Amino acid sequence: MRIGLKAGAAEMKPIVVRELIKEFGELRAVDSVSFEVEEGEIFGLLGPNGAGKTTTIKILVTLLKPTSGEAFVAGNNVLKNPGAVRKNIGVVFQDTTLELDFTARENLDFHARLYGMSKEERKRRIEDVLSLVELSENADQLVKNFSGGMKRRLEIARGLLHVPKVLFLDEPTLGLDARTRRRIWKYLEEFRGDTTIMLTTHYIEEAEKLCDRVAIMRKGRIVAVDRPEALVKRLEGERVMVIAESAEKLRSALKGFSIFERNGKLEIFVNSAEQFIPKLFEIARANGVNIEEVSIKRASLEDIYVKLTGGEV
Ligand SMILES: Nc1ncnc2c1ncn2[C@@H]1O[C@H](COP(=O)(O)OP(=O)(O)OP(=O)(O)O)[C@@H](O)[C@H]1O
Ligand SMILES: [Mg+2]
Repeated sequence: MRIGLKAGAAEMKPIVVRELIKEFGELRAVDSVSFEVEEGEIFGLLGPNGAGKTTTIKILVTLLKPTSGEAFVAGNNVLKNPGAVRKNIGVVFQDTTLELDFTARENLDFHARLYGMSKEERKRRIEDVLSLVELSENADQLVKNFSGGMKRRLEIARGLLHVPKVLFLDEPTLGLDARTRRRIWKYLEEFRGDTTIMLTTHYIEEAEKLCDRVAIMRKGRIVAVDRPEALVKRLEGERVMVIAESAEKLRSALKGFSIFERNGKLEIFVNSAEQFIPKLFEIARANGVNIEEVSIKRASLEDIYVKLTGGEV
């Protein structure tokens, strides 16, 4: 019966972005970005500072208007139907938007009222989400006395309160300790397959563990979208890490190789480490560079990230 009808909410993927452009004056922060997110997927947006991740998310959650292009969230056009988009999403932003002089429960209750939830439903959902993020015991404490990790967990609880179809999280684990980060991954894992989740992160390891697919952004453009394993597979060959006395000298001597500098080490992507390493020593000797340490590492998502973003962090 759908023949001849325009694509509607029912048949559309939860996030559809087509040729999205956002300009701030001269700067093109988002440059012809297109992607689709599948139902129930955890989709990660990676990229260096200023790549355009937050700008993309802000357009999707109707906080910014695109310069051109289209975007649909939960089947609704973000420009033509922002109200319907907002009803269907949960949002967790980098900067806290909690009421610090309210308790955790009051914050959630306030939000639940905004969404027009009934008293019964509010009560039940608030207990549910508090227990999910392990804050039940802190429910009646003032948020201003919460640690950074507790605030973040409360924000995630709030984002999930009205059972959104799509949850957006902009750097949900920024600055949190390793244990809290893992806990947050665990909460998000519980929604895999039910709620569609789009998140940005600078922790590549997080994207590798959590995301079904990732998009890598650089200078407003998406340079790759795929499953983390598939992206890693694209990176044929091996990575050789070198510590040398005069890294700069060695680096210029190795011009023509795919080479990056990280944490004082040179990283060189090669087809075969076995063939490359003797050559490396030869070049070093010819240039009077003393090599202190050489090691070989298996490719990871981080490697392809470094390669695609030119080593920017
Ligand atoms: N309101 C604004 N006005 C002008 N320029 C902006 C505005 N918002 C963002 N930009 C610029 O757009 C570019 C993309 O910014 P955006 O915040 O989307 O990057 P990001 O990928 O989220 O970076 P980060 O990893 O640092 O959060 C940056 O150069 C930024 O300075
Ligand atoms: Mg950002």
